[in-house]
Formats: sequence, C-alpha cells, structure tokens
Amino acid sequence: MSTHFPIAALAQHPTPFYYYDMELLRRTLALVKEETARYGFEEHYAVKANANPVILKTIAAAGFGADCVSGGEIEAAMEAGFPASRIVYAGVGKSDWEIRLALKCGIACFNVESEAEMQVISEIAGELHTTAPVALRVNPNVDAHTHAKITTGLSENKFGINLSMLEHALQTARQLPGIRLKGLHFHIGSQITELEVFRTLAVKVNALTADLRSRGYAFETLNFGGGLGIDYQHPDTGCIPDFKGYFALFNELIDRTDHPGIHFELGRAIVAQCGSLISKVLYVKEGEVKKFAILDAGMTDLLRPAMYDAFHAIENISSTRPRETYDVVGPVCESSDVFGKDRQVAGAARGDLMAIRSAGAYGEAMASTYNCRPMPKAVFSDSI
Ligand code: LLP
Repeated sequence: MSTHFPIAALAQHPTPFYYYDMELLRRTLALVKEETARYGFEEHYAVKANANPVILKTIAAAGFGADCVSGGEIEAAMEAGFPASRIVYAGVGKSDWEIRLALKCGIACFNVESEAEMQVISEIAGELHTTAPVALRVNPNVDAHTHAKITTGLSENKFGINLSMLEHALQTARQLPGIRLKGLHFHIGSQITELEVFRTLAVKVNALTADLRSRGYAFETLNFGGGLGIDYQHPDTGCIPDFKGYFALFNELIDRTDHPGIHFELGRAIVAQCGSLISKVLYVKEGEVKKFAILDAGMTDLLRPAMYDAFHAIENISSTRPRETYDVVGPVCESSDVFGKDRQVAGAARGDLMAIRSAGAYGEAMASTYNCRPMPKAVFSDSI
C-alpha cells in the first residue's frame, strides 16, 4: 500500500480528480526561488502547464512571474495575483484582441515569433498610444532530443524566427514606432532530460549575442524558455528535478556582459510531480490475452499517454494484493484511451483507487469534455 496518499480522505471524493500535494509544490517553488536568487535570474512560470486557480495563486504568492500563451492565460495570471510587470506573452498566433489586452494590462514583454506579428503589435500599440516591449523568439536550431511533438527549436518547427532571418527582424524591430526591442527569447522543447542539450543552447546563444554585439545590438534580457524534464519513471525518488544543476549550468556558461536580465519559463518541472490523477477501478475485465483494469478516468482527463505515448507510473493505492499485469485503460470510445500497457500493479478489484502519477503538468490543463464527460475536479492536500 502506498504511504504518501491520504487514502481514507481521498476515498471521500467522487472520482476521477486531480490530487495536488501542495507541500511538495511549495518545496519545489522554494528551491527554484533559492537557485534563481543565487544567480540573480528571473523565473516566469509557464501557465500552460497547469492553470488551476489554486495552483496559480500558490505560484504567484511564491514570487514568480508568469509566461502566458493566450489572452485567457493573461487574465488567469492577473486574477491569481501575478503582477502585469512580471508577465511575458508568447505564441505564434496572437489575435488582435489578445495583443490589445496585453498592451492594456502593461505586460513586461511580448515574445514575438514573426515579423508579420511584430507589424501588427506595432500598429495596435500605436492605436493605444503606447509602445510594446518585445523580445524576438529565435529558433536556434538545437535538437532537444525529446518527443517529436514537443520539440520546438529546429528550423522545421513553426516556432521562432530562423537564425538566417534574425538580423532583418532586428532591423524591423528598430524601425517600427510601436516596438521597444528588449531582448531575445529561446525555447527549444519540453521534457528535456539531458542537461547537455541546454549546454549546447547556451554555447550557441553566446556565439549569437557576441556576433550581434559586434553589429551594434545589445539586449536587456535573454530568456531561455522552459523545457527541463522530470523523472516520470520514479515520481517519488525523483520528485524534485535537478534545478541546481540546471541553473548552475546557465550561470557558468552565459556571458552576461550586456544583458543583465536572464529569464526562464519552466512549467513541467515545477508542477508535474505534485499532481496525480486519482481514479476508481470500475471493472477488471479478462480478455483472451490480456487483463484490463478499466478506470473511471480516461484520456479526456489525462491526454498525454494517448497523444504522446507518454509514460506515467500507475499505482493501485488501495490494494496490498500481489502484483498482476494489466492494461490500464479508460472508458472513452477510442482505442488510444490507454494509460499503460502491461503494467505490474497491485491486484485490482472494483472500487480500488488508482493513482496516475506525475500528472500535475499538462494533465488538468489539457482535459476536455469529449464524449460529454465532465471535466475532472481538483483536490488539494491542504484542504482535506
Ligand atoms: N516556454 C515556451 C515558449 C513553451 O512553448 C513552453 C512549453 C514552455 C515555456 C514550458 O515548457 P516546460 O518547462 O513545461 O517544458 N503538452 C506537452 C508539452 C507542451 C509544451 C509546450 N510548450 C506535454 O504534455 O508533454
């Protein structure tokens, strides 16, 4: 039986729901604050990873800024108490109303992904008699060695401005009346587990900024995006990612001569391990070649396994029976509605609670109502 879940209290709540270990979240936040303060770095939490209002409030209260990718996220961040002056806004397709909203709120920076977008931001800023602080998102062509659907820093991806087109974009930024060029932004992908990848990025960025400096460009801020991966295989022993190593690496490598502001926007590394999807076993079904544990949670509650073949550890937290092998599946009418194949889980019976681990990032945030299913609820360790 698992010791870290308050099983009797959890059993009082209708399933499925996300359970958040707020003590772990606060410990993680404190460590990130400690490490960023050590080097004078600034952290903007990537709201897309988890925009639950309680989670957002906790992160805002810990003194983080916010990295948003839509008008809705900017509103959610403001609501949760992130100051506009600590909000940055990225995305390849910003709508006019979103740009207007961001300008009216007075956010810290637009991370701009194309010249076409920069023209529109400049025009709207003009209409509002203001200027837009801007960082150009550069696509540095660094292979993140991660899942193809979450890599963003290669020339073939839709994100960022390619290196060969950067100088032209920088000139445009200087000329446009509504734009105030602040910095450069880089984000190469997500769930990056090899720190070497960030080393490659840092070395490339140094070469790039040195080259641009020789041509008269200096930047107030360099933003290295997010992407630090987590240990999905070992959610307990690996519950806090290697923030020390990650920030130390940038501190060691980045030339900060002209750009005092070094920014990060981690999402997954901050919230993934504090969240589990808790679900009830509806049926144990014997197939000809497989045994299925059918849960009341499905891909509508946690899409990652269906969408990316992502691995999440699964535990039967109610059972002390010997382990058996199951395909752990959901009720949704799609063959990809599978949380894990051939998983060794403590013997399951109807009514047992299963915990799908490391689900705090891109879990609740990506839930849907497909099949007219209700959205999953959230339960917090502080309030049970
Ligand atoms: N900054 C930018 C510009 C991003 O696009 C992202 C994530 C982040 C920061 C935060 O990255 P993180 O630290 O969380 O890796 N739904 C996928 C992940 C998509 C990530 C999208 N961008 C998943 O479930 O794995």
